[in-house]
Amino acid sequence: MARYTTTDETWIRPDEDAALAYGTRHKEYKRRKAGSREGVAKRSFEANPDVQRWLTEARDAEGAKAPFTPAALLGRRDGEWLLSSLSSFYEQDMIADVLREVKSGKEATVFCCTGGPACASELVAAKVYRPRMFRSLSNDVQYREGRTVRNESGKQVRLTGKGVPSRGSTKGRAFQVSSWIDYEYATQSLAYSRGVSTPRPYAQVGNSLLMEYVGDADMVAPRLCEIDVDRGEAQDLLDGMIQSIELLLGGHRIHGDLSSYNILAWQGRPYIIDYAQAVDPRHGDDARILLSRDVVRVAEALAPFGARVDARAVADRLWWAYLGQPV
Ligand SMILES: Nc1ncnc2c1ncn2[C@@H]1O[C@H](COP(=O)(O)OP(=O)(O)OP(=O)(O)O)[C@@H](O)[C@H]1O
Ligand SMILES: [Mg+2]
Repeated sequence: MARYTTTDETWIRPDEDAALAYGTRHKEYKRRKAGSREGVAKRSFEANPDVQRWLTEARDAEGAKAPFTPAALLGRRDGEWLLSSLSSFYEQDMIADVLREVKSGKEATVFCCTGGPACASELVAAKVYRPRMFRSLSNDVQYREGRTVRNESGKQVRLTGKGVPSRGSTKGRAFQVSSWIDYEYATQSLAYSRGVSTPRPYAQVGNSLLMEYVGDADMVAPRLCEIDVDRGEAQDLLDGMIQSIELLLGGHRIHGDLSSYNILAWQGRPYIIDYAQAVDPRHGDDARILLSRDVVRVAEALAPFGARVDARAVADRLWWAYLGQPV
């Protein structure tokens, strides 16, 4: 048997070389045999404390990543789901650790994480959709709300036809939810690129979105529904929001669920979040109604603090200006 040194790689290789030497006819058989031997030997080999130390030293020397085991996820019932949902961000150096849960919403849980070297933010927010969202539940709240499936360009997708899983099946459900998440990320990226006041999006993998964290190490930015605002600040926030709605509309999107629950306020600036219900006015009949509802709700949220605007007139102005653009 081959002698082995510090890494399991050098240990495996001699067996494989030997197997290859027998020629192609028995190659597959030998490869499998070597694989199973390797499995047994590797386990006992790695269990040895000296080898453990060598492996750690070799890994440190190579600068390889330590396994992803954030303490904040330990002991959670959904720990495994979260770990698998976030590990690719860790592998891609976009997060370094998970610090704490920020909030559990209707569909997803948001975590505060430290940004990795591949992220420009010290703190990042990871929004992880729950497994329940991917199951087929006939009475699910999302069905009742009638959320539609949209493709990258905002066009409604019909869940019928060859190769498309049926809407009621678990597969169809997963397809539908993934399309919402892709679309949410694409909309937030578009918003950010157009200068909308929104957290900078970093990545989306499967059921998870990664973006700039609004807040600091001590506290998360409050939602507009949770705070009192000074009179002057209220007017600035409202003006900033209307500007953002206009910028988003110029990119053919309406948020569709804008309210004091989906706006964070931090250092005098509003941050729009949660683009899951966004619509493309080129493809939706109710676009004008949704635009008006967004403007009215924002105005209503800030009115108690003295911010003034004729919300319906603003919505009309934005709409006609939008239609005046080449579509
Ligand atoms: N980038 C962020 N920075 C800081 N906190 C955030 C960020 N994104 C989301 N949050 C927090 O997480 C909460 C839930 O986020 P979001 O609204 O996107 O998810 P949701 O599942 O739709 O929740 P809800 O059902 O409450 O609307 C927000 O209300 C906010 O408190
Ligand atoms: Mg929300």
